Amino acid sequence: MELLFATYNSHKLNEIRNALGSMYTIQGLGDLNEKEIPETGNTLEENSLIKAEYIFKKYQKACFSDDTGLEVSALNNEPGVFSDRYAGSGNSEDNIDLLLANLTDQKDRKARFKTIITYFDEKGKQFIFEGVAHGKIILEKKGIQGFGYDPIFQPNGFERTFAQMSLHQKNKISHRGIALKKLIAHLISK
Ligand code: IMP
Repeated sequence: MELLFATYNSHKLNEIRNALGSMYTIQGLGDLNEKEIPETGNTLEENSLIKAEYIFKKYQKACFSDDTGLEVSALNNEPGVFSDRYAGSGNSEDNIDLLLANLTDQKDRKARFKTIITYFDEKGKQFIFEGVAHGKIILEKKGIQGFGYDPIFQPNGFERTFAQMSLHQKNKISHRGIALKKLIAHLISK
């Protein structure tokens, strides 16, 4: 089955192809020669919908998009929907440095990743799936796998950051992995 995924992010495409297996052919925005779709919403839900709706209207095929934010308790759930642009440069190292600086001397390190997946089936019916990973922001970067804030996010119940896990391990417990499992369960039930 063919599914269009409104992302350019090769890490996300790998994660999702890895989780879905060979039953599905996933095409990303790069495969479709599409430009980046501007994320003009104020919430994860809005941004996720904007991207999926754009692709569905254009291709009239089953498609989905995801939007993820890192919500840090001590920072009033920032950076949230602005996770990508937190430090202004769009660079993960800068985002991590700013986040660690903003948490200097902060004892409450609780944080969670939240993913919203919006799926349109081939008839245009819309479904929303949410996944949350709870954890904490550690004091310094650990690990080299993954992307974004992975080196400083340690999920609850583990002594390793997401960046110290294999893709397979991360997928099992991550926000996107959880949301994706819900999407897959939905696809299989059809
Ligand atoms: P997006 O809108 O889903 O692309 O996510 C926004 C930003 O959140 C990304 O640019 C990353 O900085 C961060 N992010 C999203 N997913 C993850 C993840 O699985 N690990 C670490 N950071 C992530």
